[in-house]
Amino acid sequence: MSDLNAADTALPSAAPKLGRLVVIGLGLIGGSFAKGLRERGLFSEVVGVDLDPESQRMAVDLGVVDRCETDLAAACQGAAVIQLAVPILAMEKLLGELAKLDLGTAVLTDVGSAKGNVLRAARLAFAGRAVRFVPGHPIAGSEQSGVEAANVELFRRHKVILTPSEQSDAAALALVDGLWRELGADVEHMDVEHHDQVLAATSHLPHLLAFTLVDSLAKRSENLEIFRYAAGGFRDFTRIAGSDPVMWHDIFLANREAVLRTLDVFRDDLDALRDAVDAGDGHQLLGVFTRARVAREHFGKILARRAYVDAMHSNDLIFLANPGGKLSGRIRVPGDKSISHRSIMLGSLAEGVTEVEGFLEGEDALATIQAFRDMGVVIEGPHHGRVTVHGVGLHGLKAPPGPIYLGNSGTSMRLLAGLLSAQSFDTTLTGDASLSKRPMNRVAKPLRAMGAIIETGPEGRPPLTIRAGGRLGGMTYEMPMASAQVKSCMLLAGLYAAGSTTVIEPAPTRDHTERMLRGFGYPVMVEGNTATVESGHKLTATHIEVPADISSAAFFLVAGSIAEDSELVLEHVGINPTRTGVIDILKLMGGDITLENQREVGGEPVADIRVRSAKLKGIDIPEDLVPLAIDEFPVLFVAAAVAEGRTVLRGAEELRVKESDRIQVMADGLAALGVKVEPTSDGIIIDGGSIGGGEVWAHGDHRIAMSFSVASLRATAPIRIHDCTNVATSFPNFLALSAQVGIRVAEEGKA
Ligand code: S3P
Repeated sequence: MSDLNAADTALPSAAPKLGRLVVIGLGLIGGSFAKGLRERGLFSEVVGVDLDPESQRMAVDLGVVDRCETDLAAACQGAAVIQLAVPILAMEKLLGELAKLDLGTAVLTDVGSAKGNVLRAARLAFAGRAVRFVPGHPIAGSEQSGVEAANVELFRRHKVILTPSEQSDAAALALVDGLWRELGADVEHMDVEHHDQVLAATSHLPHLLAFTLVDSLAKRSENLEIFRYAAGGFRDFTRIAGSDPVMWHDIFLANREAVLRTLDVFRDDLDALRDAVDAGDGHQLLGVFTRARVAREHFGKILARRAYVDAMHSNDLIFLANPGGKLSGRIRVPGDKSISHRSIMLGSLAEGVTEVEGFLEGEDALATIQAFRDMGVVIEGPHHGRVTVHGVGLHGLKAPPGPIYLGNSGTSMRLLAGLLSAQSFDTTLTGDASLSKRPMNRVAKPLRAMGAIIETGPEGRPPLTIRAGGRLGGMTYEMPMASAQVKSCMLLAGLYAAGSTTVIEPAPTRDHTERMLRGFGYPVMVEGNTATVESGHKLTATHIEVPADISSAAFFLVAGSIAEDSELVLEHVGINPTRTGVIDILKLMGGDITLENQREVGGEPVADIRVRSAKLKGIDIPEDLVPLAIDEFPVLFVAAAVAEGRTVLRGAEELRVKESDRIQVMADGLAALGVKVEPTSDGIIIDGGSIGGGEVWAHGDHRIAMSFSVASLRATAPIRIHDCTNVATSFPNFLALSAQVGIRVAEEGKA
């Protein structure tokens, strides 16, 4: 699929007139196309061709066309563009008639809802003669029909798919593309087969279902009564059964093969559901319904945000952070990302039903939920942070229907690699552009040493393909880097490996996996810097309360420290000692941070954290704190930028392989704001002073976007932060909470 840049193809409004536009078929689509382009004044004249005299008369009266022509040859002779807007089954005959005419350099295009048959008919009719034909399909319509419903706005912000072939004339393609854009449409190019398959699934199948459901109920007279009681569900589901029967009859005949393929898959799924109802298999039903509901919500969000339209223009979500601000209040940031991931993984592998509270409803953790749903685990929620996981036991996962997409989430991919290495089915793990660049050999290599069969992409990057048949044996693995993800991956593989698996870490890293395994009743031996598991035990479902994420709290710890006259309380934050490096570093810099109401919740220590403004000073960051604050450095660099004196970080090369190269990206951004920074191979040197305003790029890294938002508190002018969409991966309500406590950051245009 390819998009032409609107700027390249939109026709300049003062373009010289294009000659004659002929629209054959003046129904809703043809009429709207003709009327819209007539209003734009691009053509010297717009001529309609329609068999129905009443439509011809109305088309002229309503200003849809300049005139109508009854003779096809007279209409088309010397035309610039000919739009075929007749029913799809009439297309073959029309193309045959057109092929008899001398069309000169006229560009032919059409609006048929299936494209393979139109292209075949065109090839047959023109039999090798050069024709400038650009097949098209506007995905727009309404329940109204006829030329009287012609509406110049019909295509605005709707997709139009053009399906050019290799031989298509580039200038003709650009012209048709430009015409649709003039009508406000978002134009995409796709190959014909892909178009027909996608439309069979997303449009043709639902229409078929709506028509059959209504017919099946209506034709039994005893059922007629039920329509009197039909509530919203029936109305919503069957709305499209009110569509034009002739048109749909044509579409099903035209797109026969693709519809049959989709229908067969659907029939199998329907049969499986029938069997589940018959067998009283509530688990199966709940699985289908929860997966469907989540998918529907996902589509709903996409449609509501019109992301499909936005993608045509720009994906750049910009945060505008205005300078200054004084912070106050009490907030609870969302649930811990690391613990949320693990709650789903271990809950899925446990026996029994695990209830999770405080779950992070961010895209990363949701990707983990979806992965396990794809492997047959029934997971209810999340709803206000509550998730119910119906565990399937260590050996109960099923083969997913296709590759598992993990979005931006490195934790999902690395941890899953461990436990999938021992399954009896193949899996492929993929991710977004950022995740696709991240190193996976750090897990692939030691897993192979245990006997796993894993393929990576070039240079050890995703996708990861993990094959069935690897028989894992336990091993002792000395990790070359301090990584909780690698440690956790190995321990999860160890649950399945013969004998015992020991991981030795060069420095302490977060130990949520070890703690949570124990919470599920699975023994883990921890001695100094080693952790060991043995296979042969089981996980027993439990209750998990996820504390607020200290990595998300960190933005407010720095914000509260650097903003003037501020005092803020962050409630219920996880203060696991393997995560509190940010507090230690801020305190070393002179931060005023106190822990209150310390308690333990579900095996994890928790506290309310009070932060007050403080005069920070630059420090040499002790290297042993690096793994304990690994995710918090972007925002700590902001603290360093306003501190008095120099801050030096060393031994943090891991920052270069996070969601972005956090050393380089932060250095570039801070430098753009006038801060004196020097990136080094394993850290950064920052000379504190003042922060100016300007443009910075988050490079799709959630923590960079949020860090520069915090920087605005001490900036002298607004900061525009590009590429902020991924804030939703870890902190979906960041802007709302920021506004609540007094940080002046908002989506650009929505302040
Ligand atoms: C995580 C471990 C850390 C951290 C990441 C989450 C985890 O990565 O940066 O955000 O949940 O285990 P590394 O283990 O690669 O350092």
